Order: sequence, then C-alpha cells, then structure tokens
Amino acid sequence: MKTGVIYCGDCLVKLKDLTSESVDLIYIDPPFNSNRNYSTSPKTTGDRRFDDRFDGVNDYLDYMKPRIKELHRVLKPTGSFYYHCDWHASHYIKVLLDNPDLFGYDNFQNEIVWCYRSGGASPRRRFSRKHDIILFYSKTGEYVFNGLKERSYNRGLKPYRFQGVAEYRDNAGWYTRVGMKDYWEINMVGRTSRERLDYPTQKPLALLERIVFAGSNEGDIVLDAFCGSGTALAAAQKLGRRWIGIDVSPAACDLARERLKSRDL
Ligand SMILES: C[S@@+](CC[C@H](N)C(=O)[O-])C[C@H]1O[C@@H](n2cnc3c(N)ncnc32)[C@H](O)[C@@H]1O
Repeated sequence: MKTGVIYCGDCLVKLKDLTSESVDLIYIDPPFNSNRNYSTSPKTTGDRRFDDRFDGVNDYLDYMKPRIKELHRVLKPTGSFYYHCDWHASHYIKVLLDNPDLFGYDNFQNEIVWCYRSGGASPRRRFSRKHDIILFYSKTGEYVFNGLKERSYNRGLKPYRFQGVAEYRDNAGWYTRVGMKDYWEINMVGRTSRERLDYPTQKPLALLERIVFAGSNEGDIVLDAFCGSGTALAAAQKLGRRWIGIDVSPAACDLARERLKSRDL
C-alpha cells in the first residue's frame, strides 16, 4: 500500500481505497461535537478552519459511526485505535466503540487523560475543564504495545533502598522508574511555541510521539484520518514509521504536506 501520502477528502470516501487489515496504528482527532467553528487569525495563509457543529450528539454519532467502521476494517488484527475527544462526547463514543460490531468492550485498554494548562476565564459554577480524553482500543487481544516508563518520586524524596529496586536521583530528590500511568501532563501548543503552525486545535508533537511509540514498531503504518496539520504523521516520521494522512480540508492537507517535507517537524 502506498504510504507517505495525504489524501484530501472525506475519510469515509478515501478510506474505501485502503486495503482491509493493512494499517498497524490509527490515531484520530476528529471533530468533538463542541458546537464551534474553529479558525485561525486572518493573517494566516490558506483557509485553515473547520466546523465542529452537529445537530446534537446523535447526529454526531451517526456521522462518526460509518467512519469508525471503515477505520476498524483497515486496521490489522494486531493494531490499536486511539480516539481523541473530550467531555462533549467521550462517554457516548466509549459506548459506541464498546459495540461488538466495532471494537468491543473487551478490547478497551485505556482512557488516557491528557491534562494541559491554558489560560481563559475560570467558570464560576464548575471546575475549569483542562483535559482531553484519548480512548485506546485494540482490535483483538494480541496487539502491539511498547510500554513507557516514568519517574515516581519516593515519599519524602528520600531513598527506600529496597532490594532489587533501582533508584535514581535528580534535583527534586530520589525516584524509581515505573510503568507510565494513564494521565499525562503535556503542554499545549501555545502561542509562542516553536512547533506552532497556526492550525486550530493543533496537538503537541510530544503527545503523539508517546502514542506512536507505544502503539507501533519501526516500519509500521500509522494512519490519521483527520490529520489536520499532520502532528501524528510528523511523530510517525520522526520515529521511523510509515504514515498515511487524510483530511477533508485542502488547507490542512497543504500544511501537513509542507510540514512532512521539512526535516524540522
Ligand atoms: C481537531 S482537527 C485535527 C488536528 C490535528 N490532530 C493536528 O494536530 O493538527 C480535526 C480535523 O478533521 C478534519 N475533518 C473533519 N471532518 C473530516 C472528514 N469527514 N474526513 C477527513 N477529515 C475531516 C478537519 O478538517 C480538521 O483538520
């Protein structure tokens, strides 16, 4: 199958051209049902905008279901699927993906919480909403997963000296290395960030690098069917994976193509 390409059009149509069970890892960051119309500053080149408005949650789910069905078809039996969403519909999407015709309850692996800091007015009648949800499903029980490790600081930041447990120290104190947890604190792509491409809702490369590393091996095929500025594809390229992108917006496709040509992703 041809890789290193970005198809411009509705993924429902474009996915029909992909062979069944040919892709190792799928990440999607589609509209969230946020009832917003995203755009960038008028100074930005191209028409970088996309509409995230549906006629209620059922309309949104009716829109996503046939697209998820196609994504499920093209995924290899050893593949994984990561669906990026937020509070607007994550609970409905999880129920949809639990459907045995799609991924199934038993293939749910993680609800990853991506926590970020961003400015904005604090609501007076609830807590500030500062995380997204990434639902991770495998296609079967046999799937690629490369675990990652993170630092876990010791209580009191002192050494425990347990036998057989390696301990390390940095400026903050003593820590051990443990399996990464399912909540991740990663900065958003801020206004002054070097990686900023002025694409609305651009996701940080560090977030996608984690997902691509964990869910695929070198040489594998990574698909993002709502690729926007191409962050998942950039992560795949950086980590030695092959990739396929799809986006309905010609401005997004142009931007992602330019980004993927550059050595500085
Ligand atoms: C949230 S953005 C993706 C942002 C991307 N993850 C990034 O880091 O830049 C969602 C994208 O989905 C695209 N999109 C919406 N409906 C689509 C469809 N039916 N097929 C393909 N792309 C679609 C939009 O044009 C938009 O670029």
